[in-house]
Amino acid sequence: MSTASGGDAVSVADFRAAMRLVVGNVSVITAGIGEDRSGLVVISVVSLSAEPPKVIACVNRSSSTWPVIERYRHFGINSLGPQHQHLAERFSGFGGIKGKDRYEGAEWVTLKTGAALLSDAVAAFDCSLDEMIDRGTHSIIIGSVEAVRTHDSGQALIYWRGGYRPLNVE
Ligand SMILES: Cc1cc2nc3c(=O)[nH]c(=O)nc-3n(C[C@H](O)[C@H](O)[C@H](O)COP(=O)(O)O)c2cc1C
Repeated sequence: MSTASGGDAVSVADFRAAMRLVVGNVSVITAGIGEDRSGLVVISVVSLSAEPPKVIACVNRSSSTWPVIERYRHFGINSLGPQHQHLAERFSGFGGIKGKDRYEGAEWVTLKTGAALLSDAVAAFDCSLDEMIDRGTHSIIIGSVEAVRTHDSGQALIYWRGGYRPLNVE
């Protein structure tokens, strides 16, 4: 099925309907230490540069994690596999789970910045915060990658057409 809209300003509904068709890689962003931790599930992570290694993500300023990233000046990016879907749901606030309680039921490690990294994340990036650039409802967060971990089992978790889907490569 094909649709098109243009001329007048693009409506929020048309924008959302189009974005639903863009395949997203599911990651959890973590920030904070100990009791003072939160995190959120995102699909907005991309590489910014390899030399030096930098990443960006887009975080809603109304999210409970935004002030934690600003305060600790660090964040972890954890790219998920299909076995982590329950974790993705916790970190989207499903069931009203908040703060450090989102971390329950998984193993976490820290490397350099103190941000929590999922021990079996497909790929994990430990980042210090360079800058937050406010645009619209979100901030673009730019991170310098201080450490990485990988765990490649030929699987990833993606989000497409409003649902989580496993991606398997033989
Ligand atoms: C698949 C998926 C992808 C998401 N991607 C983003 C994102 O890139 N940036 C963002 O700010 N929120 C994103 N969200 C929404 C946040 O995960 C959610 O609003 C947040 O965890 C709830 O905010 P709270 O911490 O204030 O409860 C996404 C949600 C889902 C389910």
